[in-house]
Amino acid sequence: MKSINKFVKVAKQSGIRHISDFTDDLTDIIQLTVGEIDLPTPENTKQAGIQAIKNNYTKYTSNRGTETLRKTIANFADTHYSMKFDWRKEIIVTVGASEGIDLALRTLCNVGDEVVIAAPAYPAYVSSTIIAGAKPVFVDTTKTNFKMTADALEAVITPQTKVVILNYPNNPTGTILKQTELLALAKVIINHDLYVITDDVYDLIVYNSSGQAQSIVTLPNMRERTIVLNGVSKSHSMTGWRIGYVLASMEIIDQMFKVHQTNVGTATSISQIAAIAALEQDADNPQKLVKIFKERKEIVTTALDEMGLTYVDPQGAFYIFVNINNLKISSWEFSIKLIQDYKLAVVPGSAFSADGYVRISYAADKKILTEAMKRLKKAVNDLKTIANS
Ligand SMILES: Cc1ncc(COP(=O)(O)O)c(C=O)c1O
Repeated sequence: MKSINKFVKVAKQSGIRHISDFTDDLTDIIQLTVGEIDLPTPENTKQAGIQAIKNNYTKYTSNRGTETLRKTIANFADTHYSMKFDWRKEIIVTVGASEGIDLALRTLCNVGDEVVIAAPAYPAYVSSTIIAGAKPVFVDTTKTNFKMTADALEAVITPQTKVVILNYPNNPTGTILKQTELLALAKVIINHDLYVITDDVYDLIVYNSSGQAQSIVTLPNMRERTIVLNGVSKSHSMTGWRIGYVLASMEIIDQMFKVHQTNVGTATSISQIAAIAALEQDADNPQKLVKIFKERKEIVTTALDEMGLTYVDPQGAFYIFVNINNLKISSWEFSIKLIQDYKLAVVPGSAFSADGYVRISYAADKKILTEAMKRLKKAVNDLKTIANS
């Protein structure tokens, strides 16, 4: 048989899914793996979806997304980013932000182009880059508080560099960037004439008083070179509805649209109706989530402090990236041991291109988190005893 596409062949399956699939046949396992909020989709949003089905709103829609949803997204962007995006020309409704990642990279990259990714990184950035025929170039952020710095970016730029991917609030670390840090990055990006993909899916799940993380697209001269990815999966507990969106200049959107139309045609009609309700009637949902997550985060950080494990206190999203280097075990082995011997599933840092860490998702009930931390404590104590004997 002739060989299949070489880029697809080297791309890896998501390590997050790999570890959670491991737990499929196990009972009494606590799952703190997949980035999915345990709480239901808010009520108005659900009802809008139900009504859409009752009204037979079950056909293809305009391939860019329905007019009403695109207008709603444009209104949202107007307040959220304080920027105008033309609903006709500068927005595509996608099948989750996941589709946006693939669309953006396939639209921008030629074979051999380099894409700069801060590691630890959301796995799809790496696989989508490889599938697009481009080369992921990692910036190790473990020594810079898990932030991509202007100096670190400058150091990896070559004539082949085409795109920088930013994701703040970050998955898996929860870090966000200050305006001064974004400005310094923007300077390097403009100097080298690069594109930016900013994945803002967690930008409303933020623990500071502003309730929002700033996006690089809002900085001077960045709009024309930035592709914004966002969606309702995280802000409205809507992972299964599969609605995301892309904001960019008309020149970029027109090209991305060809990939979108060929690939999926249109996002789900029913989910598009629900997404309008999410962004309008249930607009306050992210603030409600933040209140709940603050308490949950506290349970995990207090327990980690007691265990003597270090981590960066997350400023956004709902993950904690925990340093396990002192336990003298790889993140994969540790995660497998946790599942098999302690019935607790977390994601190994290797899934995010950063070994020596594990990611705990605290999108789970407080009781579950308390029990999970008991299990983790036992595992850590047992491993410390082995390491010291
Ligand atoms: C950083 C990041 N981007 C994108 C996604 C995918 O989101 P969606 O469900 O909108 O495809 C996730 C999901 O975990 C994520 O963490």
